[in-house]
Amino acid sequence: MFYRLAQKVLFATDPEQAHLLALQSLRLAHTLGATRRRCAVPGRPVHCMGLEFPNAVGVAAGLDKNAEYFEALGDLGFGFVEVGTITPRPQPGNPRPRVFRLPEKQALINRLGFNNKGVDFLVQRVREHRFKGILGINIGKNADTPMERAAEDYLHCLEKVYPWAGYITVNISSPNTRDLRSLQAVAALEDLLGQLEQRRVLLTREHGRRVPIAVKVAPDLQPAEIADIARVVASNRMDAVIATNTTIDREGVAGLPHAGESGGLSGRPLKPKADHILQAFRQQLPATMALVGVGGITCGQDAVNKLQLGANLVQFYTGMIYQGPGLVEDCLKAINGMSVE
Ligand SMILES: Cc1cc2nc3c(=O)[nH]c(=O)nc-3n(C[C@H](O)[C@H](O)[C@H](O)COP(=O)(O)O)c2cc1C
Repeated sequence: MFYRLAQKVLFATDPEQAHLLALQSLRLAHTLGATRRRCAVPGRPVHCMGLEFPNAVGVAAGLDKNAEYFEALGDLGFGFVEVGTITPRPQPGNPRPRVFRLPEKQALINRLGFNNKGVDFLVQRVREHRFKGILGINIGKNADTPMERAAEDYLHCLEKVYPWAGYITVNISSPNTRDLRSLQAVAALEDLLGQLEQRRVLLTREHGRRVPIAVKVAPDLQPAEIADIARVVASNRMDAVIATNTTIDREGVAGLPHAGESGGLSGRPLKPKADHILQAFRQQLPATMALVGVGGITCGQDAVNKLQLGANLVQFYTGMIYQGPGLVEDCLKAINGMSVE
């Protein structure tokens, strides 16, 4: 009810401004103690990636790019929060406007382009604060780093965030950094993940802890590409696949205002595609490898669907904009009502 009123104000504002206002208000409420124990639904713990997640529902990357709000988000009942994408150096992202609402379909199009304050800022934030759930840190490359040096950016971020992350996500699937998705091709992926795995072996020794690595994929993949990615991810000892990022497809929104904007589409119209990719990865990956289902969750049943398709965990972003924080509880209730096999 309160969110419905707040949403009227927020939706009258530019989407990026509204996002900032909503997160700052949430953080203020958290500081004042107003968000504590807001979520009354106890979640079921999930064991995967060698970790214990308090429950299966998480915040998708991009909502808290610089790790400025994760404690407040955690208070809403999420079992884990993925912050980032973060890059080695701060960068402004693409020119505004770069986020568009498609309310008729509970969707967004964004072409932010990894606007962020840089990995040193993020590390400073996560060292100062303690979060009781699992903190995922999503890493990427700077827009002006040439593709042939992309691995250096990922390795730099891996080293910096390693001691502070519950898990680390390698984002090779944003449509808003030129050629980033070409890292999903076999040779490039083999090279990148091979280097990351080698470095992780050293970091595990140095820090006495093996931090799981997840690879985040695009929804715009063909069956042969899915088979290749699954094989390379498994052979390089990665721990999870996150399916999926936003889509460059406009199926389900054609003809609507803003549908022609370039960028990645998220929210309800993404769900069939993201679910299809999730299911295909479940079939191709070893059963021991974790899968995180993300894309188009707008109600509890959507989260249940993803778990039934083989996800161990789920995340959402756009659903939070349209449904508000109550979506966490809806998902937890629906998941608790699932029959356990
Ligand atoms: C405005 C916006 C910014 C995003 N930024 C990132 C990002 O920085 N890194 C990333 O891996 N995914 C990012 N995403 C993708 C989401 O994490 C998620 O994969 C996608 O939106 C599908 O989930 P949803 O339908 O629940 O939003 C972003 C999504 C949106 C809408």
